[in-house]
Amino acid sequence: MDNINCIKRKIEKIIEKSSVPEDPVHSRNTLEWLLKLEPNADVALQIAALGHDIERAVVQRKVKRQSYKNYDDFKYGHSLNSAKILSELMEGCNISRELINDVTSLVSNHETGGDKRSDILKNADSISFFHVNLPYYFERNSFEETKKRYLWGYRKLPVNLKMIVAEFNYDNKKLESLINVKCLFKN
Ligand SMILES: [Fe+2]
Repeated sequence: MDNINCIKRKIEKIIEKSSVPEDPVHSRNTLEWLLKLEPNADVALQIAALGHDIERAVVQRKVKRQSYKNYDDFKYGHSLNSAKILSELMEGCNISRELINDVTSLVSNHETGGDKRSDILKNADSISFFHVNLPYYFERNSFEETKKRYLWGYRKLPVNLKMIVAEFNYDNKKLESLINVKCLFKN
């Protein structure tokens, strides 16, 4: 098994056991969106897409919302923690220091972007949240909380990608009604 397959397998094995039920599908779906947005995405971006949320699957190390004063700080803590766990896993697969640093930087910035490659990862992750995570999120949270989370993610997207998200449909009628809210933020 080569180094890259080694880290992909390790990520998959950990995430498939996550207590967050949507984590495995979200990991794969983020990679799919990444490759739709950037068909030539390099290996660092692909590893980052698969493993960007890995800390959520590591119960004894995952960060908790109540430890942070606001949602942005919580998400930044989540990003750094995932980057650290991924870095350790990549070391165990004998991946080069250069590639480890590249993946670590991408994952650390995956909620905010900031450069061309981090922006692609942020956008793939954000679209995937609407594509696969949102109905699960709504099962665990109130309508108001889901609306807040929806707008938080929606505002991060550039206009052309907001149009993609606006096309998604949800079985749950109440959840579907959020579409009326998001139209206000289309531009
Ligand atoms: Fe994610």
